[in-house]
Amino acid sequence: MREGVLERYRQYLPITDETPIFTLGEGSTPLVKSRKIAERIGCDQLYFKLEGCNPTGSFKDRGMVVAVAKAIESGAEQIACASTGNTSASAAAYGSYYGLSTIVFVPKGNIAKGKLAQAVAYGARIMAIDGSFDDALSIVRSVTEKHPIALINSINPNRVQGQKTAAFEIIEDLGDSPDEIYIPVGNAGNITAYWLGFTEAFNMEWINKRPRMMGFQAEGAAPIVQGEPVSNPETIATAIRVGRPASWSGAVNARDESQGAIESVSDDEIMEAYKMVAREEGVFCEPASAASIAGLLKSKRDGVNFNDKKVVCILTGNGLKDPDLAGQLDPLEMQEFSANLSDVERGLKLS
Ligand code: F0G
Repeated sequence: MREGVLERYRQYLPITDETPIFTLGEGSTPLVKSRKIAERIGCDQLYFKLEGCNPTGSFKDRGMVVAVAKAIESGAEQIACASTGNTSASAAAYGSYYGLSTIVFVPKGNIAKGKLAQAVAYGARIMAIDGSFDDALSIVRSVTEKHPIALINSINPNRVQGQKTAAFEIIEDLGDSPDEIYIPVGNAGNITAYWLGFTEAFNMEWINKRPRMMGFQAEGAAPIVQGEPVSNPETIATAIRVGRPASWSGAVNARDESQGAIESVSDDEIMEAYKMVAREEGVFCEPASAASIAGLLKSKRDGVNFNDKKVVCILTGNGLKDPDLAGQLDPLEMQEFSANLSDVERGLKLS
């Protein structure tokens, strides 16, 4: 049986003899070498970390398995989170595995259909808040402070601990540190966790340098870029529709210590990248994930030289999460035919 995050990285995680060890198959995700986008930007070592291959289809499962294990260890029977969708799907899955009651707070009307379907399927209690993700997060913080319910958002340090293992895997796969990491930024837990992972690896002398962290927010939801909270965040990439990131300081620290940058990309740029990575690389990710590719293409346009650099783009979630948006793509070709060979051959211009 494949080892999950708890077992594989046991000695680097806050695990005790009392921590339950279990897995739904999270972690050990593929690092895929880019062909076409690498060529477009003039980079012969460009890789995609496919975090959409985790059991619930997003990177959240790595941190969630640790947070849920620690919640169980502390005797919790209920867990709760606020989410733009993926955290709630992950919490609901791990909660279901261990028979915990899971409560998810989501911004009403702004969660992709696939993610809501997952929370429903795994049997979570769903609280649709008439407000933004930031409102939902503020409510869940109050609820979990007042009541004996474990908060499992990424402000829970166990989430960041589990999430840092993605950095370890990249180092194992490449045998070294990449030069740059391109990563989408929403609530900013992920960029914080990668930086922690690379920093720990550096301190343990697995690598002799750390990568520059290049974070990308959506233009209409770019509080870190603007240097102040955004009260009405807006973007097609609902996963990163966050106006007041909980791990703001972690992201800024990752940016500054790594001499990286946090910038923004427009919804049009996100959609261009979303299509490109599917049609040119065979990787269908969700729009928020494509922000990292959009950032890469933008950096190229801005004159960045990728020659001789080893670059990893983090593709955080699976494209099937957002079927409505996927359904808006124009098919290359879609025609209807009767089940008749010669009609089909004519349609294909083969006759
Ligand atoms: N990509 C996807 C697919 C996400 O779901 C998220 C965050 C991010 C990127 C950004 O990561 O928040 O750590 O900076 N989703 C959260 C959620 C907010 O509730 O599922 P981050």
